[in-house]
Amino acid sequence: MLLFLFLGCCYSIVHAGDDEKGFVVVPTSSFQPETVCSTARVNLEQNHSTVSVPLVHRHGPWAPWQSTDWPSFREMLRRNRARSSTITSRASRGAASARDDKKVVIPSHIGDAVDSLEYVVTVGLGTPAVRQTVLLDTGSDVSWVQCAPCGAGECSSQKDPLFDPSRSSTYRPMPCSSGACRDLGAYGNGCTNGTDDDRCRFAILYEDGTVTGGVYSSDKLTLTSVDTVGNFLFGCAHDERPSGKYDGLLALGRLPMSLVSQASSQYRGAFSYCLPAVNSRSGFLALGVRMRSDTTGFALTPLGTSPLQAPFYVVTMTGIAVGGKQLVGLRLSAFAGGMIIDSGKVVTALPSTAYRALRTAFRKAMAPYPLVPNGHLDTCYNLTGHKNVTVPKVALTFSGGATINLDVPNGILVEGCLVFEDSGGDGSVAVLGNVNQRNFEVLYDTSHSKVGFGPIHAEMM
Ligand SMILES: *[C@@H]1O[C@H](CO)[C@@H](O)[C@H](O)[C@H]1NC(C)=O
Ligand SMILES: *[C@@H]1O[C@H](CO)[C@@H](O)[C@H](O)[C@H]1NC(C)=O
Ligand SMILES: *[C@@H]1O[C@H](CO)[C@@H](O)[C@H](O)[C@H]1NC(C)=O
Ligand SMILES: *[C@@H]1O[C@H](CO)[C@@H](O)[C@H](O)[C@H]1NC(C)=O
Repeated sequence: MLLFLFLGCCYSIVHAGDDEKGFVVVPTSSFQPETVCSTARVNLEQNHSTVSVPLVHRHGPWAPWQSTDWPSFREMLRRNRARSSTITSRASRGAASARDDKKVVIPSHIGDAVDSLEYVVTVGLGTPAVRQTVLLDTGSDVSWVQCAPCGAGECSSQKDPLFDPSRSSTYRPMPCSSGACRDLGAYGNGCTNGTDDDRCRFAILYEDGTVTGGVYSSDKLTLTSVDTVGNFLFGCAHDERPSGKYDGLLALGRLPMSLVSQASSQYRGAFSYCLPAVNSRSGFLALGVRMRSDTTGFALTPLGTSPLQAPFYVVTMTGIAVGGKQLVGLRLSAFAGGMIIDSGKVVTALPSTAYRALRTAFRKAMAPYPLVPNGHLDTCYNLTGHKNVTVPKVALTFSGGATINLDVPNGILVEGCLVFEDSGGDGSVAVLGNVNQRNFEVLYDTSHSKVGFGPIHAEMM
């Protein structure tokens, strides 16, 4: 299993033989340097209106816990399928309810997919600050950590000691009558007015039937030794999922409860991250980045503002190139459903005709290598025994002309498989997965309604 996991590492990041024809020759045998994306290029403010915290892959050697018990690639893909169906059904529910003229803001029930989340940051909570390692999710709205007291079987196992509100001098439970409690909308889980326990309850229901719920609360969130967010609203929760390791979740979605929205007066509704490959040392999450002259080199595209997709960061794709050649015959209408940029999903889902055109061109370019069946993805290669592998470059173009050249091979292939799939029809919601985002600084600027992709160059360590 370990061998399987680390196979991905063996064709990492040596951009030898980068040729102009749109192909990259990747040696499989050479020792591979790490790609490190440890500093945000747009994060140049010195006055704490920006902050950058390290971010790591939770299944990699640099994770804050050590384990050999990581899920297999197959298992990760299965979890991803759950996430995918949750996201797309949420996005289509949004569209359906808009047609019905009912509410258009739908809460994020990212489903049993919490376990599919792969990136973690370590923050401090409370006074004195207690270290908590939390999953990062652009598809979630309510942040939470597990809190003490927690009876036997009530909490999932986690990495750090449970956050104990009674030991924090800045902790406050939100009363039922508070605006914050009302803002929870569908995440609200009732109150007990008129009793001593007038605390606002929240719950996040997952598709597998489990619940993460508890008391909606506020406390001081410490991002670095000098950067804090006061009165940060989060759920003091018990999480029913058996598997754990992480202590909670940091929600980076677009609804008012997310960290990005809550801290918008401080960080102006902008953030960026660099997601490292599994084996890379560290990436970053930066809050407060802004459009400035130092976005030079960033490919910028408009961020969708449709209320139908209010919880998500949505962009529009317009084209694909494989091996330096633009795929012809892709109809723009196929992309009309928009593309959600997701930090949590591994595989990119494209509208059917676009996916099929990409697959055909990619397979043609990879014809020298044997296709092998894999339960979940349909374009996988057995690269065993090849010293060098010639991989076509893949470029995605977004509205406004922003074009990103995906990292070869780490942004295209995982375990020999092309990390794209069919989203289930033309015009359906597409999702840009996190493998494609690797080695870019991905910038989300809600105040300027822009998303940007900045290349991060591999540094030889
Ligand atoms: C922090 O930086 C921003 C952007 O340059 C500037 O507008 C603001 O005045 C600065 N604040 C302080 C306290 O220097
Ligand atoms: C609790 O009381 C507040 C303020 O009076 C009210 O707005 C809210 O609807 C009540 N909640 C319930 C569940 O009765
Ligand atoms: C992959 O190729 C190698 C070398 O040709 C072979 O030994 C191995 O059985 C192949 N594996 C699969 C899964 O086809
Ligand atoms: C293939 O790999 C070998 C050994 O790493 C290297 O010497 C050779 O230059 C590579 N060939 C190409 C075309 O890059």
